[in-house]
This record gives sequence, structure tokens and C-alpha cells, in this order.
Amino acid sequence: MPAVQHADQNSGDIARRLLAHYDVHARTLPWRKPPEEGYADPYHVWLSEIMLQQTTVAAVGAYFRKFTQMWPNFAALAAADDADVMAAWAGLGYYARARNLLKCARVVVAEYQGQLPSYEADLLRLPGIGPYTAAAIAAIAFGRRAVVVDANVERVVSRLFAITTPLPQSKPFIREATESITPELRSGDFAQAMMDLGAGICSVRSPSCLICPISFACAAFRAGDPERYPAKLPKTPKPHRTGHVYWIERDGHVWLLRRNDRGLLAGMRALPDDGWTARVDGNAMPPVPASWQKLPTQVAHVFTHFSLTLDIAVTSWPADAEGPGAGEWWPLKSLDKAGLPTVFRKASEAVLNAGER
Ligand code: ADE
Repeated sequence: MPAVQHADQNSGDIARRLLAHYDVHARTLPWRKPPEEGYADPYHVWLSEIMLQQTTVAAVGAYFRKFTQMWPNFAALAAADDADVMAAWAGLGYYARARNLLKCARVVVAEYQGQLPSYEADLLRLPGIGPYTAAAIAAIAFGRRAVVVDANVERVVSRLFAITTPLPQSKPFIREATESITPELRSGDFAQAMMDLGAGICSVRSPSCLICPISFACAAFRAGDPERYPAKLPKTPKPHRTGHVYWIERDGHVWLLRRNDRGLLAGMRALPDDGWTARVDGNAMPPVPASWQKLPTQVAHVFTHFSLTLDIAVTSWPADAEGPGAGEWWPLKSLDKAGLPTVFRKASEAVLNAGER
């Protein structure tokens, strides 16, 4: 049996029924235009697609609004201070995206007069833009036919064609199947309709097949087992790491440093730590000898590729003390403006909530 069985209805019918459903039920999202109003602003499409990589629509909304208010177009973003952009991104995670965002804006200004190119091949050469994002931008912002496959589309298509090969080996089959149902016209709306379907009706755990506009063509629905798809190999568990962060307080300020340009949370403002990474535990060596006190609470955080439990050690220094090495005394009153990544924000909150302070 071939890995991809063709949906037995005409593939054009799938697109037609899905688009008709989308015309009525499309989600209103800040970066979208209603289907009848033409293509959305390419800057908005690009920014939202970068933010939506590995991040939910619900989490992205507020960041998208903040970024478009602060930097309304490529020229404005390209001229921004790196530190301001990194701080504005804080909390969204996967910080390489923010560094590539800036690089990309600067290339678009330097090489494309501030206008995003519209072909997938040109988009693919820009920093931070991979095959999914290039296809999504070409289709959604420029109306070019492109085959857009994200995790939601993978699920919908795996069910539609009952693809039994597990992910990630099934990716080429899923792409081929998606290609076979992508229409010539409105492929951007089609892609977004598929994403909306995956985010709502064709959900991971309890798909609502009875109201699905394309259940008529769905092999998994016909077989009565949509939850079986997409087939996946068993997950290898994430490693667990332990480590410390260090809170040095002086006269209403805390000592913050900037992390290295490479590696985890690169370039972000941070509390000092004891060298933990995805690969090694921290060595429990404080950045300087001092009278350290361990807080009774720990902080837990889950990154993509490892989970982490941190102990927090605190020390309080006199008002005229010099900081250890390169860094800055940051006012506690405006700690929310420091742009700390979530793991350090959690640690700061644990310190500030620890009653005796
Ligand atoms: N996820 C990624 N891109 C999206 C989009 N344009 N609409 C809805 N969800 C998405």
C-alpha cells in the first residue's frame, strides 16, 4: 500500500469546502486581514510567523502589538537598538529568533529597500526564515502558491490521508499530500484555514469531526480513529539539569549581567549562574566569595531540550560595594524593564516573594 493514499474525493473539493468554511469562520488575529480585504502587510505576516514558530497564538498577540507599535516597519526595526529588541522579546523564548529578526530586518533594508521579497527562494536566504516560514510568507503576504506545512497542518493531513508512517519519517509524505490539495489560488487563505482547523476542530485529543468541513474526504474519520494520527515514535525523555542562580543585592539594586553571544539565552540580560547548560549541571561555585544564603524555594523551568531545577543563593552588600566583573546594578523598582528571560524572572520573583526581604 502506498504511504499516501489519495483522498478519494477530488482534491479541489477539499480546498473549496475548506475555503468556504474559512470565509465564515476565520479567526480574527491581529496580523490577519479578513479574506475579502486582500493580502496582509508583509511586515506583519513575517513578524507574526517568526513569533508563532514554537509559540501559541495566545502568547504571541501582546508581543505582536508591542513590536508593531514600537517598530511599525522594517526600516524602524532595522534601526532599533539590539538591547531594546532583545528586552521586548523577553518572555517569548527561543531568543535566537529575536537575534535573527533583527538581522533579517537589516538585510531587508540593506538589500531589498525595506520591502520583503515575495519568492520563497529569496525568502529562504534571509536569517531566521526556514522552509515553513518562507512558504507561509509567500502564500499569505504575496498570494503565491506555496505548500505550507506546520504542526497543525501535519496533524490535519496525517488524518485526512491516514498516514501510518510515524513522524518525523512521514514528513515527505505529508508534504506530498499537502501539495496535492493546495489550490492554485488563495493558497495563503488555504494554509491559514488548515491552521485554524488544526487549532480548533481537528484538535490533538478530541477532534470535532461532526462539524469538520472536510470530514467528507477524511480517511481517519471514515475509519473512526482520528486520534491515532499523526503517528509518532515514542519520545526520548528530556534530560534534567540542576544549578544555581545568584542574587546580589545592593541598596535597592540587583546585579545583572549579559550572557555570552553564543549558547543558551545568548545575549540576554541575566542573573549570574554556576555554569549550567543543557549538557551539564551547574558546579555550585558562586561568582564571588560572599556570605551566601540559600532560599528554601527552588525554581523549575522547562526548555525545549532539557528541564532545569535551580537553587537560588542570595547575598546583600553595602551601598558602596563594587559589582563582580562585567554587569550592572539594576534598580529593583524597574526589574520588569530589564527584559529577563522567563527562567530568571521566575528566580527574581522567588527572591522578591521570599517574605523576609
Ligand atoms: N500559526 C502560524 N502561523 C499562523 C497563522 N498565520 N494563523 C494561525 N496560526 C498560525
